[in-house]
Amino acid sequence: MKKLDPKLLRNAFGKFMTGVTVVTAVKDDGKYVGFTANSFSSVSLDPPMLLVCPGKFLSSYDTFSKCDHFSVNILSEGQEKISNIFATSDEDRFLKVPHSLDMNGVPIINGATVQFSCSTRNIIPTGDHCVLIGQVDDFKLSEEPGLGYVGGQYFSLGLERAAFNKTVSNAICGAIIEDGENIILIKSPDGLHPPQCKAIDRSNLIKDLNSTMIDHGISAKLGQAYSVFEGVKSREHSTYFLATGNIISPSPEVILIPISQLNAQKYSSPAISRMMSRFSLEAQSRNFSLYLGDVEKGSIHDTLERN
Ligand SMILES: Cc1cc2nc3c(=O)[nH]c(=O)nc-3n(C[C@H](O)[C@H](O)[C@H](O)COP(=O)(O)O)c2cc1C
Repeated sequence: MKKLDPKLLRNAFGKFMTGVTVVTAVKDDGKYVGFTANSFSSVSLDPPMLLVCPGKFLSSYDTFSKCDHFSVNILSEGQEKISNIFATSDEDRFLKVPHSLDMNGVPIINGATVQFSCSTRNIIPTGDHCVLIGQVDDFKLSEEPGLGYVGGQYFSLGLERAAFNKTVSNAICGAIIEDGENIILIKSPDGLHPPQCKAIDRSNLIKDLNSTMIDHGISAKLGQAYSVFEGVKSREHSTYFLATGNIISPSPEVILIPISQLNAQKYSSPAISRMMSRFSLEAQSRNFSLYLGDVEKGSIHDTLERN
C-alpha cells in the first residue's frame, strides 16, 4: 500500500465542510464524559440511526467503546467555546458547560441546535477510531443555525449570510491580505486602507473586489469574513475578509507593511485603524474573530484556527 503523508491526509479530510457536535456518555462510576466530534453522520431514517467516530486516543474511549447510551449535540453558532472546551480542556468539562440530562440520564448540552438521545446499536472498531452507531430514542430541535467547521476553522453561515443580506445603499468590500509576514495595503490621501471597492449593486461585490485587487496587481484568495460594520451616519455597509496573496505587478498605491508594524500606521478612517489593530493582535495567536456591528460598537464572534 502506498505510504500517505498523514499531514496532507488530515488536510484532505479537513476540506469536507461539517458541523460540530459534542458527544457525551456516562462512565461506570457515574461521571459524565464528552468530546468534540465532526465525524457525525446521519445513517437511517427508519429506524432512525446515526453514527459518530470516537478515536482510540480519547481519554473517554473506554466508555464510548462499550456505552449503552450516548447523546450527540449539534452545536449552534456562537458555541465555539463549548467546542474548544470539549476538544482541549483537561478539567471537568461539564462544570464549565451548562447541560441537562436526557431520558437515558446522559448529559445534553444546553443551547445546542439539536440534541439527539441515542441507544447504542453497533460499535465497529476501525483503524484508530471506532464507528459508534446509535438508534435515536428522542431528539430536540431548535431554530438556531448550526456552527460550521472546515479546514481547521469554524464558520457561521448564518452570520456571513446576514452580513450580505442587508439592504443598504452603499457597500464597501475589502480584504486584509497577508503576504507572508506582511499585509498588502493601499496608500490614499487620507491614509492607508486595505484593497477595497465601493458598489451600489451589492450582488457584484466579491467580483468587484477581485477586479480591484487585479487592477492593483495583487493576486489573492479570500478567506473568512473578518469585520462587518455600518457607518453610523453614512449607513455605508462595510465587509472585510481575511485573505492570503502576493503582489505580482503593483500599482503605485500598493505598499507592503510588516504585521508587526501595523499599529504604527496612519489609516484612512478610525474604523479601519481599529480593525487593523485587532488584526495585528489576533495575528499573534492566529485566533481570528468576526466583528459585527457599527463603526463604534459591535460584538466579536469567535472563530478558531487549528493547526
Ligand atoms: C472540530 C473538531 C472535531 C473533532 N472530531 C473528532 C472526532 O470525530 N472523533 C474524535 O475522536 N475526536 C475528534 N476531535 C478531537 C477531540 O475532540 C479531542 O481530541 C478531545 O480533546 C479528546 O478528548 P480527551 O481530551 O478527553 O481525550 C475533534 C476536535 C475538533 C476541534
